[in-house]
Amino acid sequence: MQRERRALHDLGEDSGQQDFVTATATATATPTKSATPAAVPGSPDAVHVAGLEFRNPVVLASGTAGFGQEIADVVDLDAVGGISTKAVSVAPRPGNPPLRVSEFAGGMINAIGLANPGLDEVRRRYLPWLPAHHPGTRVFVNVVGNSVDDFATIVGALTDEAGVDAFELNVSCPNVKAGGLEFGADPVALAALVSAARRVTKRPIFVKLSPTLGAGIADTARVAVDNGATGLTLVNTMPGLVVDTHRRKPRISFGSGGISGPALLPIGVLATWRVSRALPGVPLIGLGGVSTGEDAVQYLLAGASLVGVGTAALRDPRAPARIARQLLEWADREGVRDLSTLTGTLQWPS
Ligand SMILES: Cc1cc2nc3c(=O)[nH]c(=O)nc-3n(C[C@H](O)[C@H](O)[C@H](O)COP(=O)(O)O)c2cc1C
Repeated sequence: MQRERRALHDLGEDSGQQDFVTATATATATPTKSATPAAVPGSPDAVHVAGLEFRNPVVLASGTAGFGQEIADVVDLDAVGGISTKAVSVAPRPGNPPLRVSEFAGGMINAIGLANPGLDEVRRRYLPWLPAHHPGTRVFVNVVGNSVDDFATIVGALTDEAGVDAFELNVSCPNVKAGGLEFGADPVALAALVSAARRVTKRPIFVKLSPTLGAGIADTARVAVDNGATGLTLVNTMPGLVVDTHRRKPRISFGSGGISGPALLPIGVLATWRVSRALPGVPLIGLGGVSTGEDAVQYLLAGASLVGVGTAALRDPRAPARIARQLLEWADREGVRDLSTLTGTLQWPS
């Protein structure tokens, strides 16, 4: 329990709230390494996405795994295909005051406020660790900003860093110069943002979209791809409010927050299906609510090539390795020899 608590604290996510910490501790001792041997590239669960090889389709979700080092004591980083880093902004961000996370029956609500050490410190202190210790684990750098220039500055500054494989642009943040409208909700701003990032890197760029886009998510995804995105990450958290009825106040200090965990699963799977239908062949990372191998299979069938795991790993640090193993077990049971053949094979009722 202490270990998990420390990992959460290092991530800046330790709310100090008892129920969350207790659930996170998973009650039993957590081994540092899973019993699962690390899959090797070339094995049946290895996938090739956007020109990169992943040892399996499981990617740790941004904001739930720090920059790798913070969770290395409790999560087996050699048992996953990749990691998406905590959001990186140009300047350091302290984030919101506690409480920043709280559990509810369907998952978790958070309003961390994109706390991170800022571009310079991330480049100097945080990014070198993963390629030095887990060179087979692919790294997406998750990027946030308040202007188009912020995104281009960060991508341009990190594109040649060792161990940076790809970028993931979190466009669910307010465009300060356009009155605070989210980039992802404004096709003109999104086009400018993605093309500015594309001008400063040759690496794959994934644009991470919000589930609030509903049926419009496919149009937004198309804008991103038309302007240079390699792929999409679907989905970010869903806005929500969880109330402490005794205090008659929101559970978390910011008030509203982002919903993650099981409640998000069918929402993310539908978003993935919509985008994969509209943009066949475009690489997708599906995430939201994955806590078992079969949840991950749902995303693959809906059109994803990679599957993110966030909240489930906060609750049980062994979950990512278990999900990777369960994916293979599912494939074995179903007679599927190569996981990448599953992508987009969902059969829609006629
Ligand atoms: C504590 C926490 C922090 C997060 N921070 C970020 C972030 O910095 N950037 C980002 O793009 N998404 C962030 N997310 C969203 C996750 O990457 C993911 O999209 C979402 O949690 C849904 O996946 P899950 O249900 O597996 O957690 C965060 C989620 C949580 C729970």
